Amino acid sequence: MIDPYYKSLDKNLYLLHGDTMELLPQFDHQFDMVFADPPYFLSNNGLSIQSGKIVSVNKGAWDKSHGFDYVNDFNRKWLSLVREKMKDDATIWISGTMHNIFSVGQILTELGFKILNVITWEKTNPPPNFSCRFFTHSSEQIIWARKHEKVPHYFNYDLMKELNDDKQMKDVWKLPAIAPWEKSCGKHPTQKPLSVLTRLILASTKPNAWILDPFSGSSTTGIAANLANRRFLGIDQETEFLEISIKRKQEIENEKTAELYRQKIAGFITKEQFSTFVHQEISDTGIKVALGFCRSDNVKKSKSSTVFYFHAIEGNNKVKEFPIGILEAQKLILYSGGRGRPNQFTGLMADIQSVELKHKSDIKGKENSETEFYYEVTLKDSFEESETLKGVINLSVLFEKIDEKNRKLFQQYLPALATWENVLKSITAVGVA
Ligand SMILES: C[S@@+](CC[C@H](N)C(=O)[O-])C[C@H]1O[C@@H](n2cnc3c(N)ncnc32)[C@H](O)[C@@H]1O
Repeated sequence: MIDPYYKSLDKNLYLLHGDTMELLPQFDHQFDMVFADPPYFLSNNGLSIQSGKIVSVNKGAWDKSHGFDYVNDFNRKWLSLVREKMKDDATIWISGTMHNIFSVGQILTELGFKILNVITWEKTNPPPNFSCRFFTHSSEQIIWARKHEKVPHYFNYDLMKELNDDKQMKDVWKLPAIAPWEKSCGKHPTQKPLSVLTRLILASTKPNAWILDPFSGSSTTGIAANLANRRFLGIDQETEFLEISIKRKQEIENEKTAELYRQKIAGFITKEQFSTFVHQEISDTGIKVALGFCRSDNVKKSKSSTVFYFHAIEGNNKVKEFPIGILEAQKLILYSGGRGRPNQFTGLMADIQSVELKHKSDIKGKENSETEFYYEVTLKDSFEESETLKGVINLSVLFEKIDEKNRKLFQQYLPALATWENVLKSITAVGVA
């Protein structure tokens, strides 16, 4: 168990402080995607031009070159450790320039990854080459690889095509270098633009995916991930950069700022496209889960039952209001609590065979009940008990982007609906304290 340097209120962004090589082996969590912007080892006392001024290319002690073997050993070490943290169908993106990208490519192959693409990010506004002895450096490479040769990976082909005027997205991405508004929380010397990170996250992950960045810096990966409803763990050895990351996360906790940033991020055809897409994506993938209240002294008994009756709301002997969509629920999860205790999931979950609204006269044993109508929920099998589904529920996460009606029903101990993603999100955390 590692104490995170920072855990956001919504538990969607975690930061660890320290050497990535030492921290990675210390926690158990499998990620869906990794983005890494490792040191490029280009701080060789050279010069460049920034805003019309000659500046040193040196980024910091962490970026100093120590020779070819050192760079290879470094890349071999972190790539092996990160590979352990990847799900079998996960992919990894690594950005670089000529200083490190050949080493990274060679070691990926050596470790059993399969390279899928080498993206060229063509900067639309690069600094000029003032030596006039070679071409202007105006690109960075980003290698995309999957963990295994034979295990398929996820690629949102349709979205990428849509972003490219309905033509197949190429492996050359024309996106501007970082914009000043992205530096509102402080400066990192090699901060990546949100446009690059947003594109690669949307291309290779589904909503709620866990994304790891072992060289997090100012956590551009985390900010893009959270803006796209994905979760993030970042590691950096410099508190100065972690502090910038925290400020950036706090900025987008204000939903208005988050929405504004979604509109400002380059690489979309319209200003609204990013936002519309992520909201649509959540509702498309949402498996509906019925949440049924169960008194804590009844949990054991419920475990072997396969038919459940839940009160339907009534008014003047008529069913007045249903939890919207409950008849399409695919899973049933039992929660207990109440009377001053927090609501918590019991760990009991089952697949639903059918949900029917029934009058009490049609239910054996309930003919004389005060409740007129019930939902009869029939399960496919008896309940499974899952440790990961036990725990106190974060209500604002459970009902995030679900109408207020379900939240109210839940508070009255009536069956309510949530999405499977939100159920998991409302109780899960990374394997850190
Ligand atoms: C190229 S920068 C990443 C910038 C980041 N992509 C962003 O947008 O802000 C690399 C980062 O890795 C960190 N770093 C270098 N070596 C490290 C190590 N062994 N463990 C943890 N962090 C390290 C540096 O402090 C630096 O912030």
